[in-house]
Amino acid sequence: MTGVAVIGGGIIGLSIAWRLRRKGIKVTVYDGGDDDAAWYAAAGMLAPAGETSFGQEALTELLLESSRRWPAFAAELAQESGLDLGYDATGALTVALTSDDLSVAQHEWRGAAGRVPSELRDLEPALTPRIRGGAFVPGDHQVDPRRVVAALRTLVDIRAGKVSELPPGKVVVAAGLGTAALTGLPVRPVKGLVLRLRGEPGLLRHVINGYVDGRHVYLVPRADGEIVVGATQEERGDFTVTAGAVLELLRSAVDLVPDLAECELTETVVRHRPSTPDNAPLLGELRPGVVVAAGHHRNGILLAPVTADLIAELVATGRADPLLAPFPPGRFA
Ligand code: GLY
Repeated sequence: MTGVAVIGGGIIGLSIAWRLRRKGIKVTVYDGGDDDAAWYAAAGMLAPAGETSFGQEALTELLLESSRRWPAFAAELAQESGLDLGYDATGALTVALTSDDLSVAQHEWRGAAGRVPSELRDLEPALTPRIRGGAFVPGDHQVDPRRVVAALRTLVDIRAGKVSELPPGKVVVAAGLGTAALTGLPVRPVKGLVLRLRGEPGLLRHVINGYVDGRHVYLVPRADGEIVVGATQEERGDFTVTAGAVLELLRSAVDLVPDLAECELTETVVRHRPSTPDNAPLLGELRPGVVVAAGHHRNGILLAPVTADLIAELVATGRADPLLAPFPPGRFA
């Protein structure tokens, strides 16, 4: 096969390019820069149960399949690049502050046993004594998306600069929000603010998925003491960091883990999730020679392994895995 152009140097484009290269296919990634790269904000929580709505069975299946593929994907990437990805399979706690929050949070547990507050605080001593309940979710894991992208960048050929039209030949469009202008497909921005705090390493031991007085917050601790706090979700495309959004995230975070108030606030970052009318990704052939892998909404990091494997297989062999069937890119035409 002649070479393939992958348009988009985010986690999806890079992962596809890496998988294609492993198949012996020559690939060039066209990277439009990090100015609105969703991976740059992403916390890297790999939690398939929490990110779908009622009725999204096909998407849930894809998320679970990708979650199963993450351990091998991370191990192979770490080995080939020689870089640490911050991959951690300690598991997550889903916790609720009030009894109303508890009924919402239970949706996420997927069969994990509920725990009383004292059990949760034995696992995570920094949690407030006010929590009403929760669960330990052993299948949830985490990775540092910035490290993953850095590792992938060492393994593929990248050409910097924005692409305004598709080049001739075989193309994979994995350009996130940029996919709309390149293909006419409906991908819209969904704004998210994410904070980074720095505290004592070990302040938190687990990823915390919290429900706090009707608000949702997640806390993702890294080994070096960084804690990622996310995320707001708004249907808009601006980059303003509003005081209200910072307040909402910090109030939820500190309500759950009071000691977070002592941490340094090191970063506020706004990026936009590339989202589609049904908030499921666009995966597959759009027209002969043009394959799309975009619109991953809240799930770009989690879905990177399955997207990379199935899209690389489609490009290399023409065979579309049945898992792709619910997500044709032209389904909104
Ligand atoms: N997956 C988390 C988020 O989009 O905020």
